[in-house]
Amino acid sequence: MSVRLEREEPLALLVLDRPERLNALDTGSLRTLLAAIRELAADERIRVVILTGAGDRAFAAGADIGEMVEKSPAEALAFAELGQAVCRAIEEAPQPYIAAVNGYALGGGCELALACDIRLASERAVFAQPEVTLGIPPGWGGSQRLPRVVPPGIAGELLYTGRRVGAQEALRIGLVNAVYPAEELLERARELARQIAANGPIAVRLTKAAVRFGLEHGLEAGLAYERQLFAHAFTTGDQREGMRAFLEKRRPTFLGR
Ligand code: CAA
Repeated sequence: MSVRLEREEPLALLVLDRPERLNALDTGSLRTLLAAIRELAADERIRVVILTGAGDRAFAAGADIGEMVEKSPAEALAFAELGQAVCRAIEEAPQPYIAAVNGYALGGGCELALACDIRLASERAVFAQPEVTLGIPPGWGGSQRLPRVVPPGIAGELLYTGRRVGAQEALRIGLVNAVYPAEELLERARELARQIAANGPIAVRLTKAAVRFGLEHGLEAGLAYERQLFAHAFTTGDQREGMRAFLEKRRPTFLGR
């Protein structure tokens, strides 16, 4: 199996699992991954998803070059559409996604991590968009998301050179939130995920929706959307419970409705 879905309610782990190819993503893996993301999106018991790679060498070493080498332009377009659909499904999922980058995140692997809401890295993480070294531009969103995550001049340098960036540089340029020893990475990702999952589930979903909407539609539209979501929260029991718990000096019990 090329992608493993592990449920640890309220968390889920999606593990890219093709270690003999450094978790390189072929059409089959992408389809399995897309199906798993959609399955989780429909599951209200899952509040946060962690995306990581199997083995200790790679998150994902990119799109499968062996599969791509002989593609026609039409097949390349379909492959880009599928990879982009996976990244879009992560962005549009109701749950926050944490990329736990445990090794190489190259090309399509880096693009998957960029689509996640939060990136954590192990000391062994290596990021790059090496597509230009293979004679192609990025195809799963790297040219669009990298300049939205790190400053555009730095994104340009990385995209035009294909240069690799280690974990500490990734931290310095804001590509990742934190760097941990490899053996701690998953547990730290789980800790962060549990911290998110302890909050009001509707509130977290609405917040992700607002952040994503504003990044794509600009400040004015984003503010209008945020007010609507804010008002919507006042139709929920979680709003009453969260505020009453504060006033009564106790921990809230959120029911997600
Ligand atoms: N596609 C297919 N196979 C891959 C692969 C990929 N992206 N990355 C690694 N592999 C395979 C290797 O061919 C090798 O297979 P064999 O054992 O059968 O020879 C196996 O995984 C192990 O890799 P290496 O022997 O190369 O391991 P290494 O330690 O010497 O090097 C590496 C590791 C630096 C990651 C190197 O494998 C590498 O450069 N991989 C390609 C990275 C890359 O260019 N990714 C971008 C792809 S393009 C893309 O993603 C387009 C897009 O925007 C969607």
